[in-house]
Amino acid sequence: MNDLLYRARTRVMCALLPRLGRPGRVSLGGLELEVEQGVHHPAPLWGLSVAALQELAVARLPQDSKVLELGTGAGFWALAAARAGHRVTATELPEVPLHAPRAAAAHLGLTVRFLASDLFEALAKERFDAVLFNPPFHDAEPRRPEERAWCGRSTVRRFFEELPAHLVPGGSAWVLMPRADQARYGPQLSRFERALVDRRWFPILGTLELLQLSPRPGPPAPGR
Ligand SMILES: C[S@@+](CC[C@H](N)C(=O)[O-])C[C@H]1O[C@@H](n2cnc3c(N)ncnc32)[C@H](O)[C@@H]1O
Repeated sequence: MNDLLYRARTRVMCALLPRLGRPGRVSLGGLELEVEQGVHHPAPLWGLSVAALQELAVARLPQDSKVLELGTGAGFWALAAARAGHRVTATELPEVPLHAPRAAAAHLGLTVRFLASDLFEALAKERFDAVLFNPPFHDAEPRRPEERAWCGRSTVRRFFEELPAHLVPGGSAWVLMPRADQARYGPQLSRFERALVDRRWFPILGTLELLQLSPRPGPPAPGR
């Protein structure tokens, strides 16, 4: 996709997508969720959701993994991982409410550590077996707060930069991203071994891929 077309597509999406999906109850993968005002709707595209791809990632995690979900929104991915028996931490931007996913976890008897955090900020040097992220993948800066769920040019770059320091050796990240947007993060993605796990086609977004990313071994530390 050429640059002009990409930028036009991105601006349309950043304006349109936050308007899709109303707050209220939604049922996904056997979980009943409440979507609060100001929270990304997990099935915004005429009921289409990425839940099936997120469940696929959960099914591939080694047993009893220590898992981090960034930008949990209504909490589906974090709750699905906790339901599968993993030890889960989930973060969200400080201005996005976490009451509903906390209540859902309590109702289901699941333990999830929910934290307000800009990416890894609240996690100090903590490391995880798996990091899950359905990022604001459009390569544009948000112009309004509600666009932060979709447009994350600097957020996504910062995520790729900071990710290796939060994975245990052998750990990996599970990331959802349309092919058109992956092309914009080429230098950042090239730092990782990339495995395509599955893909689905969505209106407007195009082909959305679930990627498993593992940091490429860096040059040996001096003196080793
Ligand atoms: C595409 S939405 C995905 C939400 C949810 N995980 C899902 O799959 O339905 C991206 C999410 O990332 C959050 N987000 C954006 N920037 C972030 C940041 N710097 N730190 C943490 N979360 C962020 C947004 O608020 C939004 O909930």
